[in-house]
Amino acid sequence: MPHAVLTPGRTAVITGAASGIGLAAAKRLARLGLNVVMADRNADALRAAAASLGSNKVRTEVVDVSQPEDLLRLQRAATESFGEVNLLMNNAAVGANPGKPWENTAGWTELLGINLSGVIHGVQAFVPAMLAQAGPGVVVNTGSKQGITLPPGNSAYNVAKAGVKAFTELLAHELRQAAPGRVSAHLLVPGFTYTGMTVHAEVGVNGRAEKPAGAWSADEVVDVMLDGIGRGDFYLWCIDHETTRALDERRVAWAAGDVIENRPALSRWHPEYAEAFAAYLKG
Ligand code: NAI
Repeated sequence: MPHAVLTPGRTAVITGAASGIGLAAAKRLARLGLNVVMADRNADALRAAAASLGSNKVRTEVVDVSQPEDLLRLQRAATESFGEVNLLMNNAAVGANPGKPWENTAGWTELLGINLSGVIHGVQAFVPAMLAQAGPGVVVNTGSKQGITLPPGNSAYNVAKAGVKAFTELLAHELRQAAPGRVSAHLLVPGFTYTGMTVHAEVGVNGRAEKPAGAWSADEVVDVMLDGIGRGDFYLWCIDHETTRALDERRVAWAAGDVIENRPALSRWHPEYAEAFAAYLKG
């Protein structure tokens, strides 16, 4: 039995739907017979992406998720077109790196406004109506392993994704009280996925645009998302072609162990813990 929201005639709203994981999700949900509302701030890409779905049950809205009123407009547009919204995927994000924790206030504010506040704005615009409606509701927020193990490099992105993880865990708990079994929240945790975000990074770094062997496709991420929603999983955890589930588990457990063992912050990258971490990975 498919999950009640993944059936023909239900309605999905996806932010960041013009590219990558959001676009792959839009295509799949349209093929399953859902009405799909695609939202993105890139109007040209959004138009082309919507046309590629080949469905007449698609609507687009140009939206900047950092603006709460844009999400309220999106909610009204979706409801006007299709009635109640059953699946909300807060997925839009940018991979910009505003710099060190002590640098670039404007850049940090902008990234957190999109990658963290954008998710909160989506929930605040859509969840009250989901709670009031008769039909089922599912919220999927796209997080990242970077929000869980915090690999140094892009502090602002990691902070935003750590916030998305905490926010979504708390949301899931609250929904369990408010609408048990009818409205739920889930954290999508992609691995290394070949999308607009990683193409730009790859082209920037290596001057290449083909899929790196280690990356998953956006379609593989959508497979995990839909299977996990069907099972009722909270963590929709993806691997990729270079990172196994067992390796991810070790990395997550080591990060939690920093607190329990009173090790220095991010000891995985601390020279004095390099040997201990390597030994831990070997088991
Ligand atoms: P992508 O760059 O292909 O797609 C992101 C989309 O979001 C773009 O169409 C972009 O125009 C849109 N967007 C950006 N800022 C926006 C804003 N303020 N308002 C509305 N739309 C906006 O990237 P990808 O990889 O598909 O990213 C989807 C999600 O997956 C993101 O949350 C990202 O952080 C997450 N993710 C991606 C990974 C990867 O390896 N590609 C790994 C882990 C997480």
